[in-house]
Amino acid sequence: MRQQIAAANWKMNLTYQQGEQLLDAILKENIALADHQAAVFAVPFPYLMMASQKLSGRTNYYVSAQNCSDVKAGAYTGEVSAEMLKSINIGYCVLGHSERREYFSERNQSLAQKVQLCLDNGITPIFCCGESLSIREVGAQEGFVETQLMESLFHFSEADIRKIVIAYEPIWAIGTGKTATAAQAQEMHAHIRHLFAKKYNKATADHIPILYGGSVKAANAMELFHSPDVDGGLVGGASLVATEFISIIRALK
Ligand code: G3P
Repeated sequence: MRQQIAAANWKMNLTYQQGEQLLDAILKENIALADHQAAVFAVPFPYLMMASQKLSGRTNYYVSAQNCSDVKAGAYTGEVSAEMLKSINIGYCVLGHSERREYFSERNQSLAQKVQLCLDNGITPIFCCGESLSIREVGAQEGFVETQLMESLFHFSEADIRKIVIAYEPIWAIGTGKTATAAQAQEMHAHIRHLFAKKYNKATADHIPILYGGSVKAANAMELFHSPDVDGGLVGGASLVATEFISIIRALK
């Protein structure tokens, strides 16, 4: 069974104390995850150690960063390197989120460097891709996502690409309450998997978890996650509500 992941993306939300309370409420449920399942919490940099401490000892519960620098180290004020994340045992890092592409001008080439630095430090990248509404409206979404993957990922070896998690997040569904239908999600996930099969091979494509992100809620998670090529979700707003995210974790296949 391919790895199934419920990933929370807190973005720039919650105080430290609110984050502590949210994790305590979720962990109080003591949801036992199967070997192929994982719950990942992408928290703001200042909360990484707190979250790691709270999740320690919880099998298949992990902490993620929401970004890292595209350079190894040096005079880059305000930046956080993959090596720094490794030094505090952070196992995952969300990369290429559409909000970073939009507001911080992240480009596919820079993201390729970030993925490399994460892999160099034993960190699993959760690589985000997805199209805008204008691209979807003209039916160009498959080509757009293919370009994102080709320019950021398709130079990696088979061994390295197997270490990566993909998150398909249609921009028009992020924070809008307009979730992609299960059919739309499955169609794009199948396309992404086909691209990996064509570039590498079917076994590699079948190994890579592909998460869906964009208005995942407790109410729609089960239907979305039970599509054959949807391997869980990357969840924004609903991950800030304990009862919502608990249900989303429980929806993993
Ligand atoms: O990274 C997940 C995020 O972009 C989705 O946000 O609020 O639509 O679940 P939301």
